[in-house]
Amino acid sequence: MKNKTVWSNRFKGETSISLQKIGSSINVDKRLYEQDIAASIIHAKMLMKQKIINSSIGNKIINGLKKIKIQIDKDNFNFQEKYEDIHLNIEKKLFEIIGPAAGYLHTARSRNDQVVTDFKLWVKQASKSLNKKIILLMKSLIKKAEKNTGTIMPGLTHLKNAQPVSFAHYLLSYYEMFKRDKQRFENNIDLLNECPLGSAALSGTSYKIDRKYTATKLGFKKPTDNSIDSVSDRDFAIDFLYASALSAMHLSRLAEDFVIYNSDAFNFISFEDNMLTGSSIMPQKKNPDPAEIIRGRVGLNYGYLNSMLTIMKGLPMSYFKDLQDDKELVFNGFDTLNDSLTLGIELINSVKPNKSQMLVMANQGFTTATDFADYLVKEKNLSFRESHSLSAKLVGLAEKKGVTLNELSLQELKKINKNLDRDVLKIFDLKNSMNSKKSYGGTAEANVKMMIKKYKKETK
Ligand code: ARG
Repeated sequence: MKNKTVWSNRFKGETSISLQKIGSSINVDKRLYEQDIAASIIHAKMLMKQKIINSSIGNKIINGLKKIKIQIDKDNFNFQEKYEDIHLNIEKKLFEIIGPAAGYLHTARSRNDQVVTDFKLWVKQASKSLNKKIILLMKSLIKKAEKNTGTIMPGLTHLKNAQPVSFAHYLLSYYEMFKRDKQRFENNIDLLNECPLGSAALSGTSYKIDRKYTATKLGFKKPTDNSIDSVSDRDFAIDFLYASALSAMHLSRLAEDFVIYNSDAFNFISFEDNMLTGSSIMPQKKNPDPAEIIRGRVGLNYGYLNSMLTIMKGLPMSYFKDLQDDKELVFNGFDTLNDSLTLGIELINSVKPNKSQMLVMANQGFTTATDFADYLVKEKNLSFRESHSLSAKLVGLAEKKGVTLNELSLQELKKINKNLDRDVLKIFDLKNSMNSKKSYGGTAEANVKMMIKKYKKETK
């Protein structure tokens, strides 16, 4: 038995070295050891409860598995390529520790249902751990926003100055995105929450197993309803990779904003030195590397998602070895997003807004032109289209004179509409403009403060 594959009796000679090397997944799927051992222990308990194996054998198996867990925890386990994957490495070790009793563990199961059970357990836990990090990131956005509800910056569309908004309102737009990202991981947990164990190779089993027991003990809502589906699909892995890719995309947009805002041309924000790197040649440089890493790494997350989708495309029913690479993609997807989130949190914490520059820039580009049009609608009873065109004229006038809208005199304004009085001048004040956006979800300071209260409750 020692040194041989579990299927060696039907085979002449040894597995090719290249197949062993390329076909083995142990270097990747050893990350499943906790899930594999937990699922095996529950499986053994179920077999005992159902009197499929006797309790002396069952207890030996459980004790052996617990010993193996300690060995791996302590980095005291020799993973072997020739045993292919985590499932067979553990089974081989169990034989070493408890002898022939180990042979009873694989009753009424196959590696096909075993691997997908382990993997679902892993994805559930990974989703929860990413969500904890996403909440930390949301909290860092709230904290930064709280200090900046009155910090005025130009809100941009097409990267052109559009309308004044608060830096807080801008930051909290990302809060909403990450809140949905978190929900996406939760939705996936909900969908995958059925236990495949007991589906065996693909057809189920003739033993009188108790799948409800196994499912409940492993923290699943219920057992899966179709044994073929159970061992075949990896939609939950795709959902996980999609949720990861999407969250990485949101992070990438935030990072890109930060790179732009930190540029010398914009000069809206700076970072603490611990979030910057220097240049090996240009002594003056302080570069926003973390933002660039985050911006770029979304490419890796997209790649993992694409690879998984491609592996699944056209795969006939049911289990095939093609599926084995699912784990490397998901583990990499997790690691990449996890790193980006860690760096993202630190980056947000270290952002320092350059308030005076933001204010100066918010006044460039005629950002209160819409407010003027709205004023004409509300106070002078004009249609919005007419007001829009009058306001465009006003912008043309200011542009020609080379001044900002708030630098125009009342006389000049009267050229646009003779009924205007002093009252109109407040319209070109940035703070007034920002605080007039009181519609639900708008940038008015009072609104944003109210949202911050709500967000604090949500992230408690
Ligand atoms: N290491 C395999 C995987 O990850 C386990 C399942 C193997 N099953 C099989 N019939 N070869 O997919």
